[in-house]
Amino acid sequence: MSPIGVFDSGYGGLTVFKQLVNRLPQYDYIYLGDNARAPYGTRSFETVYKYTLECVHWLFQQSCPLIILACNTASAKALRTIQQNDLQHLNPKGRVLGVIRPTSEIIGNYSQSGEIGILATNGTVQSNTYDIEIKKFFPQLHITQEACPMWVPLIENGEHEGAGADFFVQKHINHLLAQSPGIDTLLLACTHYPLLEEQIKAHLPKHVKVVSQGEIVAASLDDYLNRHPEIQTQLTQGGRCRFFTTDSALDFKTNATRFFGREVQAEHIDL
Ligand code: SIN
Repeated sequence: MSPIGVFDSGYGGLTVFKQLVNRLPQYDYIYLGDNARAPYGTRSFETVYKYTLECVHWLFQQSCPLIILACNTASAKALRTIQQNDLQHLNPKGRVLGVIRPTSEIIGNYSQSGEIGILATNGTVQSNTYDIEIKKFFPQLHITQEACPMWVPLIENGEHEGAGADFFVQKHINHLLAQSPGIDTLLLACTHYPLLEEQIKAHLPKHVKVVSQGEIVAASLDDYLNRHPEIQTQLTQGGRCRFFTTDSALDFKTNATRFFGREVQAEHIDL
């Protein structure tokens, strides 16, 4: 079996995974959530790189020829180093892709005003990766980034629907709009944030489009596989999905439904 590997710090990557399976249901998949060490968004470059590399290594050991980092923080802080320094030792024929590049290639097409807002973790904002990548494709875009450090912990703990979460949503939306009142497009640049989409929209002017990454990443993977038959032909096509977590398998089963839309069975692993 040669499945597509999908990795996230925790549950958020399941919002991308859901769209991958919707669009490309024929393939086998393995999802790994590093729940024991989530969240990644407030951790240093060195730590995010070390954790991500361990997870990538494990997914390669499960015979995944292709791994998607469905985590913006890992894509921002670890992907480039893994691609440039580690792949040649780990798996020279393997591929590791992130979520920032496919999003950056397309996000400018959503905007009429040329002003977009980006909501992400501290780590993703501090890396400035989105600004750098988007400017390669849309140099004229005006980009305003807002770090929302409380959102992932609230979502991971199932506390994202109450008044407490709404306080933090309003705080960051107001701050973003104060800096850049002309934005007409808002990118949710953390795969957890789609769970807050309704609360986010409630604090935005009606004309602002809110963009999640799941469908963008799925379309990009479809395109990538069509352009890379040497990878595509290695993938097994059984439509099987397996879920692994570095923390409690029971907790994963309970919580994953909110992100994936249906109950899943998970297995615990030690890295
Ligand atoms: C987190 O673990 O803090 C979330 C990572 C991300 O999706 O950027």
